[in-house]
Amino acid sequence: MTVDGYTEEQLRVAVAAAVRAPSLHNSQPWRFALRDGTIEVRLDPARRLPATDPTGWAARIAGGAAVFNLRLALAVAGVPARVTRRPDPREPDLVARLAPDQPRLATPRERALFAAVPRRYSNRAPFWPDPVPTDARWRLLEAARDEGAWLDLVVGAGPVNAVAAIARSADRVLDRDPAYRAELATWIRRERSPDGVPVGSGGPTGEPQDLLPQRAFGGRPRAPGRDFEPEPLVAVLGSTGDTAGDQIAAGEALQRVLLTVTDSGLAASLLSQPIEVPGAREQLRLALGRSGTPQMVLRIGYGQPGWPTPRRDPAELIDLPVAPS
Ligand SMILES: Cc1cc2nc3c(=O)[nH]c(=O)nc-3n(C[C@H](O)[C@H](O)[C@H](O)COP(=O)(O)O)c2cc1C
Repeated sequence: MTVDGYTEEQLRVAVAAAVRAPSLHNSQPWRFALRDGTIEVRLDPARRLPATDPTGWAARIAGGAAVFNLRLALAVAGVPARVTRRPDPREPDLVARLAPDQPRLATPRERALFAAVPRRYSNRAPFWPDPVPTDARWRLLEAARDEGAWLDLVVGAGPVNAVAAIARSADRVLDRDPAYRAELATWIRRERSPDGVPVGSGGPTGEPQDLLPQRAFGGRPRAPGRDFEPEPLVAVLGSTGDTAGDQIAAGEALQRVLLTVTDSGLAASLLSQPIEVPGAREQLRLALGRSGTPQMVLRIGYGQPGWPTPRRDPAELIDLPVAPS
C-alpha cells in the first residue's frame, strides 16, 4: 500500500525539521511546496549570496541538508519519501521532489538522527583536547558512505597542517575581496534575528596562531590561554561527481554526518573557505589523493555547551496549492 500524497500536516512537521539544516551564513535559502501530493524543495533566489557563492554550490549543499531532514521527519512519521534530485533541469532552483514511498516503521537509526535535529548547531568555540574515539569515527565514515559520499579523516600532524595551510590561504584570498567582506558583514547579527549568524555563535576572533581559519563573524577576542584544541579532528566530506545533483546529495550526506556527530555526543563546525576558492579546492583534492570532489571541511571534537541559532518561521516558507474558487 502506498500513500496517495503528503498532507499539509505532514508537510508542516517535516518543514519544521528541514529549516534546522545548516546554511552558509544562516541564509536559509529554501522554500517548500506541496504539489500534487509531493513535497518540492526550491532555492529562494532572493537569498543568494552572489559574492560568496557565485555558482550556487553552498545553496545546493544547504538545500540537500534540508532534504535530509525532510527525509528523516517523513520516515519517523511512517511515510518515508522517494527523492528525485533536480527533477526538472529547466528549473535549476528546484532542488528535489519527495513523493511518498511504501509506508513502514522508522528504523532506530532514523529515530536517533531525527531526535538530534533540534540539538545540532555549529560549535565554533575551542573544543576539549580529548580525542574522538574510534567507534565514533567509524560511525561518521559510515554516515557519509550511507549517503553515497566519502569522508576522509585527516590524521597526523603533517596531513592536518597541510589541509589547514590550504584553508588559511583560501581564507586570505576571500578576505582580499571587498564584495565578500561586505556580504559577510550583512549576515552578522548583533541583535536577535530569525536569520544570519549571531555574534555570540560566531566563535571568538581569529588569532595568528590559530591552525584553522575562523570566519570573521564579529566575535569577541578570547581570554589569554584559551587557544583552540591543538589536535582537532579534521574531516573532509566529498563526492564522486560535482554536478548540481551531486552537490545536493553531498548536502544530504553532510547533514547525516552532522547529526551523527550530535548523536555521538560530539560537536562540529564547518569550514568552507577551501571549497569556495577553486584553486584551494583542487589543492585539497590533491593533498587527500582523491579523484572525487571535496564538498566540505569539518572540525569535530568535544565541545563546550552552546545553543542552536534562530530560524525563520517555517509557516512563512511553505507554499500550499491554491484552492479552486
Ligand atoms: C555550505 C555551507 C558552508 C558553510 N561554511 C561555514 C564556514 O566556512 N565557517 C563557519 O563557521 N560556518 C560555516 N557554515 C555553517 C553556517 O554558518 C551555519 O550552518 C549557520 O550559521 C546556521 O547555524 P547552525 O549550523 O548553528 O544551525 C557553513 C554552512 C554551509 C551549509
